[in-house]
Order: sequence, then structure tokens, then C-alpha cells
Amino acid sequence: MFVLIWLVSCVSRLHRSPTLLHLRHSRITHSLKSNQMASTFLSLPSVSPSAAQSVQDKCKDKMKSGNAFKSAFFGKDKQPLSMKTKSHGRITMAVAVKASRFDSITMAPPDPILGVSEAFKADTNELKLNLGVGAYRTEELQPYVLKVVRKAENLMLERGENKEYLPIEGLAAFNKATAELLFGADNPVLHEQRVATIQGLSGTGSLRIAAALIERYFPGAKILISSPTWGNHKNIFNDARVPWSEYRYYDPKTVGLDFDGMIEDIKAAPEGSFVLLHGCAHNPTGIDPTPQQWEKIADVIQEKNHFPFFDVAYQGFASGSLDEDASSVRLFAARGMELLVAQSYSKNLGLYAERVGAINVLCSSPDAAIRVKSQMKRIARPMYSNPPVHGARIVANVVGNPDFFNEWKDEMEMMAGRIKSVRQKLYNNLSSKDKTGKDWSFVLKQIGMFSFTGLNKAQSDNMTDKWHIYMTKDGRISLAGLSAAKCEYLADAIIDSYHNVS
Ligand SMILES: Cc1ncc(COP(=O)(O)O)c(C=O)c1O
Repeated sequence: MFVLIWLVSCVSRLHRSPTLLHLRHSRITHSLKSNQMASTFLSLPSVSPSAAQSVQDKCKDKMKSGNAFKSAFFGKDKQPLSMKTKSHGRITMAVAVKASRFDSITMAPPDPILGVSEAFKADTNELKLNLGVGAYRTEELQPYVLKVVRKAENLMLERGENKEYLPIEGLAAFNKATAELLFGADNPVLHEQRVATIQGLSGTGSLRIAAALIERYFPGAKILISSPTWGNHKNIFNDARVPWSEYRYYDPKTVGLDFDGMIEDIKAAPEGSFVLLHGCAHNPTGIDPTPQQWEKIADVIQEKNHFPFFDVAYQGFASGSLDEDASSVRLFAARGMELLVAQSYSKNLGLYAERVGAINVLCSSPDAAIRVKSQMKRIARPMYSNPPVHGARIVANVVGNPDFFNEWKDEMEMMAGRIKSVRQKLYNNLSSKDKTGKDWSFVLKQIGMFSFTGLNKAQSDNMTDKWHIYMTKDGRISLAGLSAAKCEYLADAIIDSYHNVS
């Protein structure tokens, strides 16, 4: 009540003031209900912003000094109200705002990967290039919808399929197709019904289900993740409260794999730890172990009774072959090991926004697989109830139709081929333009969507600030967002950043 009386007196003084003759309040609203944000605002349509501001300042001073302030601007629950001003063109409002119960919540930092796209959008320079997010672009740097996806969608539309809820575990035809793509349709582990598969919310959601399973049924078990790794892995395991530590992976001296370090760290981990492995096209480095190295990794994991946990986000996208890119997983499965595999169809089918993927748990018995599946469903139910149908139907239709399946493989080869060709062109430009004799051949040895340039944070900042090239601050660039026409420009930027910024 005090506040209302006080504001009305402020406004009536404005009316009487000879210097503010035109000033006229048009509206006063007042609400001081408990548990509701209390706001009192004046709308001053015909006064200059500066005049209105000075009146507000006087009012604010008065409020600060007066005893009435304390009682009027504290609610019953003693939460303080503060004065704020907002300007909307010629209208200036004084706003008394009760402190929010959310005041203790601080601003979250932008996401290190998705935040790059936001910054890119805000840049108006025509030379700008977004190499931050791992999403495929055409030579014209436009998003690409696979032709086979459009065909499958048209078929789905013709059939007039309904939008009923899926069961918690997802679309049965999708789950069958995805496990077959991963392990190979004739793999004994499938015939023996030892794989528990449920559809997940793409790669991220599938990893999250597995993390919850680990937290619930292997309390205290640690997961080893590569250093470096895809930025979201740590978030996922932190949120699921699964303790993690890192194993060495990247050797900055060779810009290659620190294989000895990796083996040493996996050996040193407590027995029965989970080991997160990128099935192919390691993100962010683009450096994969050789088949012989995979065998050794499997040896150590078996010796230490660890659990392999594969993240397969790029099957078919790394080499252009679905089978070749699944060979690491199949090698471990052939040894009779129990393992987990998260899959994503964001990249290989371009279904980024459909959120389609799966979590597969290979168990040593069909009975264990049934129980594990029931518990994964139990985890999924309170999280999101059941997964979306559209992307799952696309996958099931593409894989289930031999013509579509072959078309998909061709398109995947085309996408992987375009990335390989810009990789080669970037390397050619780097080695011909850099007169210092630096060896840039690591660019060619890396595989998949990304190149890990070895640029540090200051050098990566230079790429963005001076050259308008957007990338993650760990020095990763997505070659899927590069066109042949921009290779020379990118090479100039990398050479400048590498040699002129420390
Ligand atoms: C290694 C890795 N795992 C998982 C994902 C998950 O992606 P999504 O949730 O879009 O399927 C990504 C995406 O970039 C990735 O690079």
C-alpha cells in the first residue's frame, strides 16, 4: 500500500512541476501479492527519456533514504524489492521488482561447441566460416538432407502412418536394424539374443541412459575417457554422477596417438572400470588406433576385467563403409566380451534434429540381456517416457529396403569423399604456402569430420578474431563445414595463427 501511495504522489508531483508540464502518467498498476513478483510501473508516453530518468532518479533517492522504503519494499517474507528502469523508445518505466528466489542462480557459460554457432551467426563479415559444429555442409556450405531420407519420408507420408506413442524401448524395426548395422546381420551375438537394444535420444541420450545404468548397477565404478574427448562426455558422466578420469590419447609432439600412454593408463585403472572408446573417427582428434592397436587395447581391457563402452557416432562416415567403421566393436564382440555401444544417426543419415540413436548392451547370456533391457526401460521411462518415432522410421525404412540401403551407402560415400577431398586440398595449401618447412601431414592422417590442428587457445582465438573462422578453442576444425573454395583462405589463417601467435 505504501508503495502505491508513494508512487501516486511522485506522479502527481510530476503533473504539478512547471518544467515537466507535459508529463502525464497513463497507467499505474500495482501488485504486491505475496509469492508473486511485485511490480509497479509508470508508463510515461510524452516525456523525453532524460526527463523521465531524472524523475526516477529522484524517486529512487527518496526511496533509499526513507523509512517507508524498508517496509514498502520488503514483502511479508522479507525479500527485498529493488528499483529497475526499462526504456522502450520514448517510454521509460520505473519497475520495482521483488528479489527473485532464482537470484542465486548464476549465468551459465555458453556451450563450448554450440556456443560457437551463436557467435558465428552474430558475425556480419562476409568471409566468415563456421568450422565449429560437426554437421555436414554441401560445397555451397548449405545443410544437406540426404535424398534417400526424403524418399523414405515420402513413403512414410504415402502410407499415412500414425503418431501413436512408441513403447519405452522404441520402434522394434529400428532396434533390429540398428543392432544389425552395428554388429553385422549374421553376427552370432544377435542370433544368440545376447544384445539388449533400446532406442535412445540420439547419441547423447543413449550415452546418458548407459551412464545412468552404470551409476545404478556399478556404484563407485569409474569410467576412463580419452584426453581429449568430445566436449559433452564429461557433462554426461558428471550429470549421471559417474566418476571419470582421463587416459592419454593425443600426443601433441607427433599430433598423433599416444598409444603407450593410453595402454599404460588403461592398465593402471582400478579393475572393472569402464573404458569409453570412440568406435571410429575419434572426436576431436580424428586419430584412430590401427587394427593391431585395437587388438592390444582389447587385450589390456580383458586382462584388467574392464568394461569396453563404445561411442559410435560416425559409422560409415569415417571411411565411407559401414562395416569398416564398425570393425573395432566387432573385434571386441568376437572375443566374447560384454560391452556397451551408443549409436547415433545424426551424422551418417544427417538426422541431426530427429534425435535418433540407440544404446546396445552385449551380455554374455540372453537372460542377462532381457534383464538389462528391462532396467534400461526403467531408466528411460521417468526421463522422457518413450522416444520419437519419425527418425526411427526413416532408419528402419532405409535399412529395410535394399534400394534405399544402397542409395544411402552411395550418399555416405559421397559425403565422406567430399570431406576427404577438402582435407587433401587443405593439406596441399598448407604445405605449399608455409615456407618454414613445417610438416602438415598429420592433416592427411586424421580421419572423419574433424581435423585437430594443434592450435592452442590463443591461436584459435586469432582464427576467429582476425580471420572470422569459428572453431572450438581446443583447436578442432570441422572439415564437414569447409568448401574447396575456402581451403586456401583457411590455410592462410592457420599458417598466420600458428607462426605469429604463441
Ligand atoms: C563422439 C560423439 N559422440 C556422440 C555424439 C552425439 O551426437 P548426437 O547426440 O547428435 O547424436 C557426437 C556428436 O557430435 C560425437 O561427436
